[in-house]
Amino acid sequence: MANIRPFNRGDESFMEKIAPRAFGVWTRLALDKTLPEEGTRRYLVKEVKWYIKRCQHRNENLGILVAEEDKEVVGYIVLGIDTMRSNAFGFLWGHIISLAVDPDYHGKGIGSSLIKEGLGWLKDKGVKYAEVLTDQNNIGAIRAYEKNDFRVIYSSIVLSQYL
Ligand SMILES: CC(C)(COP(=O)(O)OP(=O)(O)OC[C@H]1O[C@@H](n2cnc3c(N)ncnc32)[C@H](O)[C@@H]1OP(=O)(O)O)[C@@H](O)C(=O)NCCC(=O)NCCS
Repeated sequence: MANIRPFNRGDESFMEKIAPRAFGVWTRLALDKTLPEEGTRRYLVKEVKWYIKRCQHRNENLGILVAEEDKEVVGYIVLGIDTMRSNAFGFLWGHIISLAVDPDYHGKGIGSSLIKEGLGWLKDKGVKYAEVLTDQNNIGAIRAYEKNDFRVIYSSIVLSQYL
């Protein structure tokens, strides 16, 4: 059973390794085969570095939890509170910003444990409404979220063009 705990200094390298391995096929950047693969990998690493930086700057509205197996970080969840929506709606609005489990550890309940603990983190902050965006073909993610009481409310498409 994976141990879920808050992000600590030293977890960065694991997260930077997991991000492109986990999202490699799922990010919409990877689905667009006209985009160079190396750019997608670089983007995924930069994105995770940015979350870590914000978390290390004691941003109260952002949290990272990691999953550990045998002292190795094998997954993470990034959580956030949306201040603009919270102000507009009059209750705290939370997001699961990112969730990733290293492919070698898929199907062991780690994603689900991260979601469960992540929702606990949001609830402890006073969040009343939580949402997450994912790809409508990402069956694994949808199952993991539905198992944790999320329900699909909306789906959209992305269109792009080169200029
Ligand atoms: C989504 C993700 C985090 C799930 O992690 P995980 O540790 O494999 O998930 P779990 O083992 O907790 O599985 C949760 C449920 O989903 C099901 N599931 C997981 N992956 C599945 C798949 N590919 N196909 C069908 N069901 C799947 C599991 O069987 C389980 O349901 P069950 O308990 O009824 O059997 C992981 O697949 C991942 O990192 N994917 C790439 C990144 C990503 O898509 N992140 C989410 C973007 S918002």
